[in-house]
Amino acid sequence: MSVSPGSMSLQHQFERMRQSAPAVLPSMLMCDFGNLEREIAHLTEAGVKALHLDVMDGNFVPNLTYGMPVVAAIRRLTDLPLDAHLMINHPAQYVDQFCEAGADSVTFHVEAVDDPRPVLARIREQGVGAGIALNPETPLEAITDYLDLCDLVLVMSVKAGFGGQAFNPVALDKLRAVRDVAPHVLREVDGGVNEQTIAQCADAGAQLFVVGSAIFKHERYKPIVTELSELAVAR
Ligand code: DX5
Ligand code: ZN
Repeated sequence: MSVSPGSMSLQHQFERMRQSAPAVLPSMLMCDFGNLEREIAHLTEAGVKALHLDVMDGNFVPNLTYGMPVVAAIRRLTDLPLDAHLMINHPAQYVDQFCEAGADSVTFHVEAVDDPRPVLARIREQGVGAGIALNPETPLEAITDYLDLCDLVLVMSVKAGFGGQAFNPVALDKLRAVRDVAPHVLREVDGGVNEQTIAQCADAGAQLFVVGSAIFKHERYKPIVTELSELAVAR
């Protein structure tokens, strides 16, 4: 399906993502970029409710992926909410451009900035969801002062940079702690989430579950998205 950008208000799109929780978000890092339209159609048919876009700059993280033009290309192909995960230095410089490209939430790493406040404010000014991410080795205290300015917290269960890494359970305590101290903030987990680890994330309070390799290693996406979605319901 092709939609014109801006056909739906961005804030509305973030609310749509929030209301879809618990939701499995495919990380597009591992999709076939030569067949983006087919991949998105396939994921939509599998029932996904939003797409997670991993932006890496080869600087904040050693890996390099894609930037605004690819986000804009994905925007032209779908009206699903787009969740941009910026693993880049100087995220404030790029917030407006990612929003113009069609992101509905913009999440940056607390480790990448001196002061998250102006960045969160800038994202909210753009009318999209403002997210802050933290790596496994970063304590929750690094973000607690900013939770009132956040719409979303992205708890990394691998060190940001590469798909296909093993799940680090340190994320579980952080998810529980975010639920306790800021229940209004949407909780997202990212890294090593699969059939073995997703239920514990749900029990710890995760609401959005980013999944890369566990989906894209399959030929057909619907069975695995269905299975993961069923396991993502907290007991
Ligand atoms: C890691 C990225 C993740 C990653 C997820 O730096 O932020 O979104 O691609 O991939 P898996 O599910 O394979 O860990
Ligand atoms: Zn990610």
